[in-house]
Amino acid sequence: MRVLVTGACGMLGSLVCRSLEGSHTVVPTDIADGCERLDVADTGAVFDIISRVHPQTVIHCAAMTDVDGCERAPDAAHKINAIGAWNLACACASINCAIIYVSTDYVFDGEKGEPYTEFDSPNPQGAYGASKLAGEQAIEQICRKHHIVRTSWLFAPHGKNFALSILNAAETKSELRVVADQVGSPTYARDLSEYLASLVGSQLYGTYHFTNSGSCSWYEFAREILNAAGKTEVKVEPITSEQWPTPTKRPKYSVLRRYRMELLGRDDTRSWQSAVAEFAAAL
Ligand SMILES: NC(=O)c1ccc[n+]([C@@H]2O[C@H](COP(=O)([O-])OP(=O)(O)OC[C@H]3O[C@@H](n4cnc5c(N)ncnc54)[C@H](OP(=O)(O)O)[C@@H]3O)[C@@H](O)[C@H]2O)c1
Repeated sequence: MRVLVTGACGMLGSLVCRSLEGSHTVVPTDIADGCERLDVADTGAVFDIISRVHPQTVIHCAAMTDVDGCERAPDAAHKINAIGAWNLACACASINCAIIYVSTDYVFDGEKGEPYTEFDSPNPQGAYGASKLAGEQAIEQICRKHHIVRTSWLFAPHGKNFALSILNAAETKSELRVVADQVGSPTYARDLSEYLASLVGSQLYGTYHFTNSGSCSWYEFAREILNAAGKTEVKVEPITSEQWPTPTKRPKYSVLRRYRMELLGRDDTRSWQSAVAEFAAAL
């Protein structure tokens, strides 16, 4: 199949392209240099490329992902994350092309106290979550052939992510302070990219959650990363969210349950600790 990928120079998008290679014809696009240029917020450009390339599936990874940046510039967040998804949904619907949209645990408020299923109601607390949810709604309403895949806490040996930030900080500091009262599920971007590639051609449309199995706090995640990378001498002090104030209110508990996959009998996702071990070996 011909698959157009947006955000293909980003952390996840670059891995998605790799996962598709060999089985599909891949058209990588991004606003950044290195791929065919596509600004997903530009309606004309989106319709032009979709009608020219005529893909059978679009995997939409492009987004404004700086959560605090979105809070400071909510119009930009909505232009890229909500209008960008709407542009792609309209263009895909016009040629009967399927779309796979990557969304986030930030669509939830984090107050449930137990893992969120695909059937729980979103209630985003900030501009990033609100703009990504608006993107979900556009995709759902406009493009019948869609998969929406919510994920969380992505990490990889490249790109901007918490795991690399911890290892970089450990290069210069012997003690780190990490928030211990926010709980989520780390997700190895490579595992997610393989999952997204497996959805190409699937007609089991709808909303799915995908993370590695298990959950932890940012503090526990940091400890595991340092241990896996052999940096056991680095101390980590657990702190509260109040001790690490950010412009965006982060969900306290945003574990995503892969409930739809469970019900389909298809949930064999490996643990986040096993993924951290692979990450450390790949560095
Ligand atoms: N990272 C996480 O923990 C996480 C968690 C849940 C969901 N997600 C979702 O997963 C997807 C991939 O995230 P990621 O972490 O791989 O992000 P990323 O590394 O920031 O990649 C996003 C890519 O999209 C590009 N982009 C930004 N604005 C664009 C526009 N208007 N048109 C086209 N491309 C544009 C970015 O370019 P620039 O770098 O030049 O801006 C970047 O290359 C996103 O949809 C994100 O919302 C991420």
